Amino acid sequence: MTPVIARTREELAAARARLRGTVAFVPTMGALHAGHRSLIRRARELGDAVVVSIFVNPLQFGPNEDLDRYPRTFDDDVAMCAAEGVDLVWAPTPEVMYPVDPQVRLSSGRMGAIVEGAARPGHFDGVLTVVMKLFHQVRPDVAVFGAKDAQQLALVRRMVADLDVPVRIEAVPTVREPDGLALSSRNRYLSDAERATARHLSRALRAGAERVADGPAAVLEAARAVLDEATRADPPLHVDYLVLVDPATFEEVGRDHVGEAVLAVAGKVGTTHLIDNTPLRFGPRES
Ligand code: PAJ
Repeated sequence: MTPVIARTREELAAARARLRGTVAFVPTMGALHAGHRSLIRRARELGDAVVVSIFVNPLQFGPNEDLDRYPRTFDDDVAMCAAEGVDLVWAPTPEVMYPVDPQVRLSSGRMGAIVEGAARPGHFDGVLTVVMKLFHQVRPDVAVFGAKDAQQLALVRRMVADLDVPVRIEAVPTVREPDGLALSSRNRYLSDAERATARHLSRALRAGAERVADGPAAVLEAARAVLDEATRADPPLHVDYLVLVDPATFEEVGRDHVGEAVLAVAGKVGTTHLIDNTPLRFGPRES
């Protein structure tokens, strides 16, 4: 069945009023792929009704980023939503979302200024501002986010806790290509040669994960060795960061860390910015 498509606040309010029971929400920027599909399927399990938003949010793109060339595939996106039984697609234009330049915005604090936030100043403020607006517009009971964007997920959870937002946040594991590359709307920018270089990101994470029993320093060393290879590939990978962080705060963990951690990596291949991460658990070690 084709979902209802709402393009204005009025259309959204009317369609939202007709939804019954638990409402599960999946915010996206469109160019939907199997990663998004996995979120939508989780939402289907969690909710009586599923709402997907498709909005390329100008607020979260830096001046030299890919806002203008970000892929827009609306008809295909709606077809996927229809196939997955989505009830309502919320697809505002930038003018509908931001009728005037917003003066009042959310600040993501220190947590939004480190790691990916250091590479993309202002990015997470823009993400949280639009996610909060979307929550107010859609009023979901539960919202589903991907672990692929681990820092975004952590920040949304933190926003919900810090500001008492009445929504439950649910996470879905990263969906990957058979060769390990994490699915991303930005992958379609990659040439074959760039894609071969990009595979080193997930390879580095796997190499790091294999050393988890030997502790944080060994994990970082093993992952770094694969990234070093990638910096010598043609075309090369330009590494933005490789860090082992606390999943809730994104602060780097120490050499003696025990418990959960996220190994996160980001880099540029050609002009394409790619990120990836994997969750790890460090057990107690003999010293
Ligand atoms: P977008 O990049 O379209 O991603 C929408 C959701 O899909 C996010 O929760 C993201 O983590 C998830 N996702 C993307 N690739 C995935 C993969 N390979 N496996 C699992 N989940 C994946 O993230 C955004 O949009 C925006 O920042 C948004 C939250 C919509 C705010 O504008």
